[in-house]
Amino acid sequence: MRGRERWPMPETNRLDEVLSRCAAGAMPTRVAAMHLAATLEVVAALSDWGLLGLERTVLDIGCGIGRLEAALSPLSGAVIGLDVSAAMIEQARTRCAGFPNVRLLLGSGHDLAGIADDSVDLTVLVDTFPCLLLSEGELAERLLAEIARVLRVGGDLVILGFSHRDDVVSERRDLERLAQPRGLSLARTVTRACASWDAPAFHLTKRGSWPACRQ
Ligand SMILES: C[S@@+](CC[C@H](N)C(=O)[O-])C[C@H]1O[C@@H](n2cnc3c(N)ncnc32)[C@H](O)[C@@H]1O
Repeated sequence: MRGRERWPMPETNRLDEVLSRCAAGAMPTRVAAMHLAATLEVVAALSDWGLLGLERTVLDIGCGIGRLEAALSPLSGAVIGLDVSAAMIEQARTRCAGFPNVRLLLGSGHDLAGIADDSVDLTVLVDTFPCLLLSEGELAERLLAEIARVLRVGGDLVILGFSHRDDVVSERRDLERLAQPRGLSLARTVTRACASWDAPAFHLTKRGSWPACRQ
């Protein structure tokens, strides 16, 4: 879904509620359906790769308005959504009010303060990594080190959308250069994980030797 459409996303993942908002003229049905489909495609990809489960804690960095949190809630033990934007977190709190296992955190933008070491099974970034690469001060490197800190050994990291460069070979090379020294190894590259969005997905895992390279 490159160049996302400028309509607001539906405030719920419940199809009946989305359809009634469309019927009331609050949003075009096609756009609402696209947003829902894109969210569900991400969930389906994570499920296909065996990364979801009721015993797992999922962290979504750059959670935006919390659409993924609402969709992951029934499929996860706990879901943590973190965003640097207070406005996004406020919307996510409204959307996820009915999901008791979702925790939403306003982050500093350069660390994962408030999330304990070795406490997360799966970290996802959906269309957030490009923001990190565009920021100054080696933000991508710092956040990858933080991700390695909070992931359990053997835990998973999925980056959906890396740089919008449309060159998966150089993206993979750049990601490996950033991730390897931080104890994260590439396990899988999927050129197109979602039919509705042409971004590649990168799946990494945290190696057991992480404490030796923590910095
Ligand atoms: C393109 S949006 C994607 C939102 C959401 N993942 C989705 O797919 O709907 C990127 C999000 O990343 C957040 N973001 C950007 N830099 C961040 C940072 N350093 N730490 C946490 N969130 C960040 C932005 O505030 C924004 O909500």
